[in-house]
Amino acid sequence: MLAALGSAVGLGNVWRFSYVAGENGGGAFLLVYLLMVLLVGVPLLLGEFALGRSTQAESSTAIAKLLPVRWRHLGLLGVLSSVMVLAYYAVIAGWVLKYLALYLFSSTHRLSDPGFATAFEAHIAQPVEPLIWQLMAILLAVAVITRGVEKGIERINLVLMPTLGLLLLGLAIHSVSQPGFMQGIHFLFQPDWRVLTRPEVYLAALGQAFFSIGLAMGVMVAYGSYLPSNQRLPGAALSVALGDALFAILAGLVVFAAVFSFGLDPAQGPGLAFVVLPEVFANMTGGAIVGSAFFLLLAIAAMTSMVSLLEVQTAFAMKKLGWSRQRAALVLGGLAFVLGVPASLGFGVWSEVASTGGRGILDLMDLLAVELMLPLNGLLLALLLGWVWPGKEALQACDLHTGRLGQLWLFLVRYVIPLMLAMVLASSMVSG
Ligand code: TRP
Repeated sequence: MLAALGSAVGLGNVWRFSYVAGENGGGAFLLVYLLMVLLVGVPLLLGEFALGRSTQAESSTAIAKLLPVRWRHLGLLGVLSSVMVLAYYAVIAGWVLKYLALYLFSSTHRLSDPGFATAFEAHIAQPVEPLIWQLMAILLAVAVITRGVEKGIERINLVLMPTLGLLLLGLAIHSVSQPGFMQGIHFLFQPDWRVLTRPEVYLAALGQAFFSIGLAMGVMVAYGSYLPSNQRLPGAALSVALGDALFAILAGLVVFAAVFSFGLDPAQGPGLAFVVLPEVFANMTGGAIVGSAFFLLLAIAAMTSMVSLLEVQTAFAMKKLGWSRQRAALVLGGLAFVLGVPASLGFGVWSEVASTGGRGILDLMDLLAVELMLPLNGLLLALLLGWVWPGKEALQACDLHTGRLGQLWLFLVRYVIPLMLAMVLASSMVSG
């Protein structure tokens, strides 16, 4: 379960949540996001866990056990999306490593010299240096994968996930004393109802819920296969999903209190956390130490997520292509790096490419993965859970055999989730 939480908690909670919430109006987005977590995230996460535990297999095998032969390749979709996500995720993880190094080895006022935003933009616009950090992030993940996930990752999660949570909590408490705290609270918790008429908000919230929990790629199926038979799955799914959301809300509090304290723009896009947080550390006693600790823990959180993404692909290649673990991890890590290069260059030398509507290459990859591939996989997953898996078996596997909760799960998985995902997908296609 800690491994599942480790996969869930990552850059999605800090980097992605804060900028997507900032772009989508704050409070209204948070509301829809939490609704999506409860209505779509928890039931699907429960289904993934149940699928993994009852088949005792990772996702492609688990799917093959349920489906007739010609549908068996559906598992490939999840693997393909994980390739896409890992590629640009490593770019952001590289930014985190760079900031960690800055906090550890140089004085932080160097950053503030031209202003944090300028310093950040100057860093990501360089053609070579960010690629080196990105490569390092991937190599770290490859190193963990080749040693086997269980021992290393479990121990890391046991200690460091709670530590990251405590640090975020501490920062949130610290932000109470900031001049922009109340404004931040209003922004994050007071829905601007007009925003709810914009279909993109639902799409963004749903995508964020999928991404942040780590759904619809088979990661949680694999982790489910490690869960003991006496573990009650509904509780496990609920606590992983809500724990993950809690990390995001805490990070949001810290980020938005600071945004308004320092007069920054909440809707400035993917760099938000990297511009705002250094500002927080610079204006706090012991900020260099807190900043180092923060970026270290964030780097580790990113690493545990990258490991889960790389592990699905590695397991797949080992099973389907007969590759050794080392070979699979190295080749797929290399692939992630190559695919991620354009995402990184898109902030500098290739900024003219794909900059439709002010979006760069990384943004487009993220959009494609999170607002198209994940909802599509989610739709297929819901159909698999609700319609292909015999209801009785599925409920039993979910530890829901008795009572109304089981009926509710079936109803959500059969009707509500497919309908919502179909609508969201349609709006995603329409908005192009
Ligand atoms: N959930 C992770 C985050 O928030 C990213 C991630 C890890 C992920 N594994 C995943 C996203 C599987 C989708 C699917 O940073």
